[in-house]
Amino acid sequence: MDSLFIRGGVKLEGEVSVSGSKNACLPMFAAALLTPEKCVIKNVPNLSDVRSMAEIIRSLGARCENIEEGTWEIEAREISCTAPYELVRKMRASICVLGPLVARLRKAKVSLPGGCVIGARPVDLHIKGMKCLGCSVEIESGYICVDARKIRGAQIYLGGRFGSTVTGTSNVLMAATLAPGSTIIENAACEPEISDLCKMLVGMGAKIEGIGSPTLCVTGVASLGGTAHSVIPDRIEAGTWIAAALATRGKVLVRGALKKHLGSFLDILERAECPFETRGSSSIYVDASGASYRPVEAVTLPYPGFPTDLQAQVCALMTQAKGISIVTERIYPERFMHVPELARMGAEISREGSSAIISGGRKLSGTHVMASDLRASAALVIAALAAKGETLIQRIYHLDRGYDSMDKKLAALGAKVERRKSSE
Ligand code: EPZ
Repeated sequence: MDSLFIRGGVKLEGEVSVSGSKNACLPMFAAALLTPEKCVIKNVPNLSDVRSMAEIIRSLGARCENIEEGTWEIEAREISCTAPYELVRKMRASICVLGPLVARLRKAKVSLPGGCVIGARPVDLHIKGMKCLGCSVEIESGYICVDARKIRGAQIYLGGRFGSTVTGTSNVLMAATLAPGSTIIENAACEPEISDLCKMLVGMGAKIEGIGSPTLCVTGVASLGGTAHSVIPDRIEAGTWIAAALATRGKVLVRGALKKHLGSFLDILERAECPFETRGSSSIYVDASGASYRPVEAVTLPYPGFPTDLQAQVCALMTQAKGISIVTERIYPERFMHVPELARMGAEISREGSSAIISGGRKLSGTHVMASDLRASAALVIAALAAKGETLIQRIYHLDRGYDSMDKKLAALGAKVERRKSSE
């Protein structure tokens, strides 16, 4: 297991380009199962999660090839209906094959994804959606078994106690594209990744209205065709780079940071008096030399609210703001694996229920820390860059799941960073 060695105290300087969105492209790989024709997906990031999804798509019988950097071809001529545990357990997003299998084959057997360090990760809303569409759903030996021979359009309220569900919306949406009749999904997730999926599905011939709104209207069609689609930039990667530039008091142009996707995050930065400016619609420039920040209160919410996937990174940044910040997690109340590790670096941070209380302003100091999940790992990178001294972040395979070439991009911004093999 590789580690990332960072010598802190260096201001990041230069330009960084955001890769394609992990959370947009993963359901798109699944969407290609809806047709026997070829789908071409471009601007796909080079991530281990993408390779895991490709493995699942192949295990179902489809051709799934990375034909050139950032471009994948998927051709699902003949596919089976079973997604096995040994592949699904690796990555929660595997659940996104459920909807396409139900739609295309009128049956599916998909392993329950299991939980992870950020929370239980239930799929009750996914199952509710399938049942509302007229499918019979049984849980047998850890598998979701769906008989969709009687599938038909329906009106579905898909909200849960934590709000909307992103992959749940993807699954119900994709199932509905080939379901006879019309489907209305209420309290659908509005994340940009869902809108991007809708655009791909429309390119395949799906009939979807209300794209970007919490009410999606789908008119089922008899079949879907192939398409070519380019993935939107990753707004969470963009926010991570902005936070890193601010934490190191650097000067960084983040290309691919779409202002329209980052509104709630930029609002937090404005309240913290962080210096940044938007450059056109798709870049954000940070010049934070000599800057000092104000403490903030922030609460994660479904889009367009403050994204839970940037919560850990904001905690790391707020260690640099003199005063008391309170960051509250409303999506995954347990998502605080970064708190004890930041404390090991000298941060005055503690967890109170579903909030992190940060008394910022003290200089962090480098040490050995352990990555635990994708976004907590990103928070440790931000803290290590700002800290005095050297930090070794172990188990950075977590980072490789969701950040394309992060060490290379950091080095290009002047960071003193070195990827070390576990043998070193
Ligand atoms: C997606 O996960 C993202 N992953 C997550 O990003 C992201 O944190 C999450 O949405 C919230 O924005 C992908 O898109 C691949 P949810 P998803 O269903 O769809 C509860 C990252 O770091 N819920 O929107 O699995 C759930 O427990 C990852 O890139 C139910 O109760 O999340 C959570 O509290 C981490 N029942 C809330 O809803 C369900 O059936 C939101 O979950 C489904 C979800």
